[in-house]
Amino acid sequence: MPRTLRLGFIGSGGMTVTHTTAMAGFKNIQFAAFCDVKKAKAAVFAEKYAAEAFTDPGKMLAQAELDAVWINLPPFAHGEAEMACLEHQVPFLIEKPINKDLRQAAKIAAAVEKAGLLTCVGYLNRYQPSVEAARKLLLQDPGIYANGGWLGAPPRSGDPEGIWGWWIQKDKSGGQFVEQVTHTIDLARYLLGDAESVTAYAARGFVKGIKNYTNDDALAASVKFKSGAVANFFASCSAGAGGGVYLHVYALNTGIRLIGWSHDAEIWQAGKKRPKRVASKPNAFALEDAAFLKAVRTGDPAGIKTTYADGLKTLELTLAATQSAEKNGKTMALKY
Ligand SMILES: NC(=O)c1ccc[n+]([C@@H]2O[C@H](COP(=O)([O-])OP(=O)(O)OC[C@H]3O[C@@H](n4cnc5c(N)ncnc54)[C@H](O)[C@@H]3O)[C@@H](O)[C@H]2O)c1
Repeated sequence: MPRTLRLGFIGSGGMTVTHTTAMAGFKNIQFAAFCDVKKAKAAVFAEKYAAEAFTDPGKMLAQAELDAVWINLPPFAHGEAEMACLEHQVPFLIEKPINKDLRQAAKIAAAVEKAGLLTCVGYLNRYQPSVEAARKLLLQDPGIYANGGWLGAPPRSGDPEGIWGWWIQKDKSGGQFVEQVTHTIDLARYLLGDAESVTAYAARGFVKGIKNYTNDDALAASVKFKSGAVANFFASCSAGAGGGVYLHVYALNTGIRLIGWSHDAEIWQAGKKRPKRVASKPNAFALEDAAFLKAVRTGDPAGIKTTYADGLKTLELTLAATQSAEKNGKTMALKY
């Protein structure tokens, strides 16, 4: 019988609920330790799973004898958790975006590479069969133009300690493009390859009356890819009537529409009257967690679709778009 893997979680908020729920039916794992700056939040999970609660990631890594860690922290809270995993050589799955500070993320990426540590970033949509079907076609018929992003209603004022506390503050979340559209940018990079430069503009001052709100109301970015392809990406948290999530990619003979958060695919081929539809699976978190656990158990990273180094490239592009908008459309060249 396979050994029971001891798992730890840093950040005991919404995403730790999501991942522990996604793995609820998995065999041969034990939720062994939970960490949060607020001990009471870690204690709720510790009680539920007969696990240990910590407030310090370093202590948790030193004491809990873990096989793998999930880092489910807000973008502003990174650094210590990753360094603790590196020090103790414990593989980690880190939620997107991997940071809001590119320099710190680049240092962690270099340390991960030097240590040869197994990592996985929470870009769950890469595990969808719809995205894989799109990728297979685009490898033969490369994407030339894409557009996509996230359009949502204005944020709510809410619990200042919870997601509506940090999410609405650009210096904590990085802004909507960094925190949410990161999913679309990651998929675009998966389907079109790495980007070369970005130019962006932002709208501000339309959303009013939300305490501590410093995000852009909307952002429009034009990206040039190394392949020569071009794309338009957008974020809006000022669309009161809604708008949704999508990514469309167009090639000489292929049109891909990834629709909604589920990323169901509509695949159009030149000369055909109807699209082929590929449905997505209901719980991509479980697909991602299973792939990471398999890699931890076998030591073979082949099933992991986004490593920390890959997450760094997505972070760079989203931060560069945000900076370009802050510099009123100055084109930003990408390094990674
Ligand atoms: N993959 C997805 O679809 C998806 C969906 C939602 C959120 N996320 C990402 O997951 C991450 C976490 O989001 P969330 O919804 O769980 O946030 P959350 O606010 O619900 O929980 C974060 C927890 O981290 C704790 N925390 C803050 N700083 C800490 C530190 N230094 N050490 C230990 N604990 C600390 C907070 O007290 C809180 O309990 C974010 O980066 C977010 O962007 C991903």
